[in-house]
Amino acid sequence: MTTSQGPFELPPLPWAENALEPVISARTIGLHYGKHHRAYVTKLNELSAGTPYASMPLEQVIRESYGKDAKIFNNAAQVWNHTFFWSCLRAPQEGNKPAGELAQRIERELGGLEKFKADFAAAAVNQFGSGWAWLVDNGGKLEIHTTSNAELPLVKGATALLTLDVWEHAYYVDYENRRPDFAKAVTDKLLDWDFAARQLAGAGGRQKAA
Ligand code: FE2
Repeated sequence: MTTSQGPFELPPLPWAENALEPVISARTIGLHYGKHHRAYVTKLNELSAGTPYASMPLEQVIRESYGKDAKIFNNAAQVWNHTFFWSCLRAPQEGNKPAGELAQRIERELGGLEKFKADFAAAAVNQFGSGWAWLVDNGGKLEIHTTSNAELPLVKGATALLTLDVWEHAYYVDYENRRPDFAKAVTDKLLDWDFAARQLAGAGGRQKAA
């Protein structure tokens, strides 16, 4: 779906807006994707018009604006972060868990799936203010990171495998101020471990949001 005048586009969601219910409502997805994500795309097109950024792939815009052009970086990174976030989620599944090499590495490097889920949700809760929790491959080691505002692993040399948006717009309609309930429900039921495994398989390569 194109959203505005300019080279940057709002990618389609990988599922229907009600696919994540009851964990995330169609109303939240409608706002989060249809208003917030779209607004970052629109703003990036406005800000980049007539600049060299307008002809760059999104990942290059992020790398080249980082630390130099805060408005461009913030909007470009938020476009990437949200596209990546949607790809990290799928319809709720009980007993949702990783398989294969990723499962083995979570066992070995992060103390097992249950410990990962507790630590990932805690990281999301403890990120003060707006930001993101991430599972990353950092130079061959799985780690849980958090970032503030629009920051992302791409500019820190790590490969993102999964993320959780903990800006208030991600959960306030469904959970009000209960970020811990949102973080636990998404971590338990919505994470797309197959997507994470594909990111891990490509670690070290040039990472795309979807
Ligand atoms: Fe968001």
